[in-house]
Amino acid sequence: MKKAIRGQLISYYDNPFSKPVEDCLYYEEDALLVMDGGKIIAVGPASRLLSDLYRDVEVTHYKDAIICPGFIDCHVHYPQTEMIGAYGKQLIDWLNKYTFVAEQKFADEAYARAAAEVFLKELIRAGTTTAAVFCTVHPQSVDAFFEQSAKIKMRNIAGKALMDRHAPPGLMDTAQSGYDQTKSLIAKWHGNGRALYAVTPRFAPTSTEEQMELTGAVWKEHPGTYLQSHISENKAELEWVKELYPERKSYVDVYQHYGQLGPRAIYGHGVHFTETDFRTFAETGTAIAHCPTSNLFLGSGLFRLERAMTGSPTVRTGLATDLGGGTNFSQLVSMNEAYKIAQLNGYALNAHKAFYLATRGAADALYLGGQIGSLAEGHEADIAVLDLKATPILDYRLGHAETIEEVLFAFIILGDDRAVRATYVAGELVYERDRDTLLETF
Ligand code: GUN
Ligand code: ZN
Repeated sequence: MKKAIRGQLISYYDNPFSKPVEDCLYYEEDALLVMDGGKIIAVGPASRLLSDLYRDVEVTHYKDAIICPGFIDCHVHYPQTEMIGAYGKQLIDWLNKYTFVAEQKFADEAYARAAAEVFLKELIRAGTTTAAVFCTVHPQSVDAFFEQSAKIKMRNIAGKALMDRHAPPGLMDTAQSGYDQTKSLIAKWHGNGRALYAVTPRFAPTSTEEQMELTGAVWKEHPGTYLQSHISENKAELEWVKELYPERKSYVDVYQHYGQLGPRAIYGHGVHFTETDFRTFAETGTAIAHCPTSNLFLGSGLFRLERAMTGSPTVRTGLATDLGGGTNFSQLVSMNEAYKIAQLNGYALNAHKAFYLATRGAADALYLGGQIGSLAEGHEADIAVLDLKATPILDYRLGHAETIEEVLFAFIILGDDRAVRATYVAGELVYERDRDTLLETF
């Protein structure tokens, strides 16, 4: 059945890093957005649509709110939800001390299912409607995740971590078992409802060369699937990769050598990228997931967003939390930290560019720009409703804001999950903050 929401609305149909914002932003002060069958079937000025075709449609009117595309998180680890904010270590020690301990528990499918539920609820509470998600090495952790995700029909990308060295025995597969399990998980989940599969080599140091070969092979054998991993996050990690792969010219060259770059490959971090690295990513159509809260929390470094988005050639880049290295589910918080990182790099990241990176830009990085990330006719109806009165200080600050850009920037600096009043997935209201409607569904 058709239903509609009404209110102030923003969406991006093009890239404000490369064009004037007027040529990228769709802004309507009083919009009507009509949904049917999980898709947006009309969006435009409420006065026109209500007086015409959609006179009889059921409308939820969001006053004091901004309707925007549901956020997209390009890189996140659901099994790390329980260890968010683990204190005091940089990447390699943090992985060994906290991450690899937590992830071993996901051999138990019931445990994994419960964790996936908590994780998905947090995404939805943060207004995030799509994520590229790392599961653990256990195939059952992928089943648990996608089964929960299907209950609210989310378009999520996920996959089983591949790791056959430098990890505890409870967290390793073999090159062959990783390959076989990946193949059967792809058959089971890729394109099943809204699920999309990502071949998921954790990162080069935890795979043998044999596993790296088979990982490239299984990805190539399944066109349309994703590949996700980590790259160039931490200086000690870079040194380690040099030791482990002495014949390769660079960290990027490792993945390229094993056939792991290309469209639908998404790599977290790229903090220590050289110009050659950026160029190789650009030329192969590979995407970077920029993970601001994680890069700061783990002391990894300052990603050069300006180079990725405005250098030549540009690199597909989307915003990500990288939780549990990242410290917050809210992409508003990721934007806030991205702004500060850009400041330290001498670049002013404005609100439109930041919102773009978590909506349309992220969708384009994931090659899903025609389906999600924008509020446009024919797109899937994944929507966040932001509350202009979410907190007293936001309300007060917005009383002194004059442009939509100022309003969005205030959300970035003052907002988090509290700012999300409602979330729609595939045209269904799955979360209402004030009634805590969430997820009786689970
Ligand atoms: N590199 C390899 N695994 C991980 C992980 O789980 N988190 C982060 N931030 N980096 C990684
Ligand atoms: Zn990560």
